[in-house]
Amino acid sequence: MNSLGAMRATSENDAFQIYLAAKKTVDDRALNRLVWERLKQMLADEHADQAASVLEIGTGIGTMIERIMEWELLPAAKITALDSSYTNIAQANRRLRSWANDHGFEIGQETNDRLIFTKTGAHFNIQLNTVDFFAFQSDQIGPLWDLVVAHAFLDLVDLSSAIGHIFSLLKPGGLFYFTLNFDGLSIFEPAIDPLFDSLVLDLYHESMDQRIVKGSPSGDSKTGRHLFETLHSYGGEIAEVGASDWVIYPQKGKYVHAEAYFLHFTITTIEKQLSHSSALDQDIFATWIAKRRAQIEQHELVYIAHQLDFVGRTPA
Ligand SMILES: C[S@@+](CC[C@H](N)C(=O)[O-])C[C@H]1O[C@@H](n2cnc3c(N)ncnc32)[C@H](O)[C@@H]1O
Repeated sequence: MNSLGAMRATSENDAFQIYLAAKKTVDDRALNRLVWERLKQMLADEHADQAASVLEIGTGIGTMIERIMEWELLPAAKITALDSSYTNIAQANRRLRSWANDHGFEIGQETNDRLIFTKTGAHFNIQLNTVDFFAFQSDQIGPLWDLVVAHAFLDLVDLSSAIGHIFSLLKPGGLFYFTLNFDGLSIFEPAIDPLFDSLVLDLYHESMDQRIVKGSPSGDSKTGRHLFETLHSYGGEIAEVGASDWVIYPQKGKYVHAEAYFLHFTITTIEKQLSHSSALDQDIFATWIAKRRAQIEQHELVYIAHQLDFVGRTPA
């Protein structure tokens, strides 16, 4: 493991934040560039004269906001970022200030939760909020948004309610950018026992479908493919779709950046989800988990997760 991967997380929350930080380079490789470029062009065509208002839901520790600035999606924006976890928002605040400093921005801060980053040709005004997205109403912060971004988020919630709510927050003809929507296929190589491997992954996907949050079903292991129908049912117009599969593999015999940590976190998530499953022989499962961990330590494990990115607009 590299230094970040070797860090000991002191709590589940710390572990999740280290995972989100490790995920950044995995996501950088995965994001579909055709979909990204289409969004960039739409923003350039429609918001050349004034800063676009952007709402990011489920922002985590803010890595997508860093990416929006780093990859120059647009030169100026008023970004509102939401997450239901206070500690994630607090970490996003720290990370973004440090990121802006490292990237030559002047940092202004109107309040604790509002960051202003400026450099020649670029201006970003970022408001961070701890709030549950489903409880969030547009009049809490301002008028309707030009663009809503949901990155690695929609597969965790009830898709239809989420799209309905997002569309109510967007201006007529407003843009959506929904990325890394899991689409029902996970692959681990090398195989341990192909039948048992498939059983574990089927049960893991089923556990995503059975997730309950606050008493309601939340999550869908086939969110990617289901987005076509759900967007259509709300009158959404898809401009571009493309695959954004995670592919984590040893490069020249080693995992890059903190990607070993990302793999360990994924294996631990599967272990936690299925450690009480009566559909698995738990002794064989414990051995399976231990072998997967050993494959990571030996820089052998390849992990692929199939996902889809979407860009489009709401009805005008
Ligand atoms: C898988 S993480 C992705 C975070 C970030 N988009 C990224 O890719 O690094 C999902 C995030 O959504 C947040 N979240 C889950 N349900 C939420 C809700 N109902 N409202 C707001 N945030 C939520 C979680 O706290 C978590 O930070």
